[in-house]
Amino acid sequence: MFPERNVPLQACNSFGIVARAHTLVRVGSEADVRAVLADPELGPAPKFVLGGGSNVVLTGDVKPVVLKVEIRGRRLVEEAARACIVEAGAGEHWHDFVRWTLEQGWPGLENLALIPGTVGASPVQNIGAYGVELQDRFDSLDAIDLNTGQAFTLNAAQCAFGYRDSVFKHASSGANGLGLAGRALILRVRFALPRPWKPVLGYLDLERKMAETGIAAPDARHIFDWIIAIRRAKLPDPAVIGNAGSFFKNPTVTPEQCADIIARDPKVVHYPMPDGSIKLAAGWLIDACGWKGKSVGQASVYEKQALVLVNRGGATGGQVMTLARAIQTSVYERFGIRLEPEPVVV
Ligand code: EPU
Repeated sequence: MFPERNVPLQACNSFGIVARAHTLVRVGSEADVRAVLADPELGPAPKFVLGGGSNVVLTGDVKPVVLKVEIRGRRLVEEAARACIVEAGAGEHWHDFVRWTLEQGWPGLENLALIPGTVGASPVQNIGAYGVELQDRFDSLDAIDLNTGQAFTLNAAQCAFGYRDSVFKHASSGANGLGLAGRALILRVRFALPRPWKPVLGYLDLERKMAETGIAAPDARHIFDWIIAIRRAKLPDPAVIGNAGSFFKNPTVTPEQCADIIARDPKVVHYPMPDGSIKLAAGWLIDACGWKGKSVGQASVYEKQALVLVNRGGATGGQVMTLARAIQTSVYERFGIRLEPEPVVV
């Protein structure tokens, strides 16, 4: 553990935004985190935990001490009757971990293939895709409180998962005082992969793959390959063109609000939710407002998926946020809906 100064962060955020960390420490173990906390200079300083950087917009140089989580390791904890419990260090690359679980014969994460980022970031925003959310496969996690140095374990209920949401996204000064944003560093995560395995095939894109290939009873490896192909066709590869995946959450509205929008825009893409609310496709709303391909400076709306903002090369965080705010305003003016950003703005 040693602090690096004035560190370029362009390669550490999937948007590829140019910014620097005043101080950055790579933490490869729980002991490294403890050493930071015990250090007379670093211990009391404000801190910012960085995983794969796939869900952040950097709007300038980062002044808090950046803790770059590089904790590795993956193992089978237990092969119980109803689930395989598998653990991974927070710094493991998410997609490599998903592939590894399949290679070991422990399916269950295949619908979450190719999501950028690290294992440690996966519970923070309860990643989800193609009918599976992290919370459906979560067992527990170990973390360390950066204020007190106390290590602790959380189960799913304690993580308070919601749609792209968890206890880690809420400040501790929140209404219930229970938020862990800026306070917890996730060390390792355990997943419960249900046995027997059942495929999740409810999404239209997956039904299309079944029809195209004639495979009516796909195994986990088929689904893994299909998800990779579907994502590659729709979403820009951050290694080629900077982005942070979906930039906004899909908003939910009441059936009355939805009926009102349908009356004006019959084609609005909407899905009924189990609680009676209706989820709208934010990508469709943005697209309907004519944003596809539009830019502010070097920040643009992706041509193939209006929910994704991209860095055409040299975009600043300020340009990304100006574009995001302009989109929010036009969607609000046309549909009366406030879009909420998904990434963390630093
Ligand atoms: N649509 C348009 N125009 C667009 C974009 C989308 O009309 O420019 C329509 C599509 O035709 C489709 C609907 O909107 O009918 C939904 O689009 P899509 O299936 O691409 O999914 P999404 O709602 O945009 C969500 C997640 C993705 C996840 C996919 C698949 C959110 C914010 N995004 O996208 O997650 O991969 O479903 O499950 O919930 C991410 O969070 O970063 C992410 C990529």
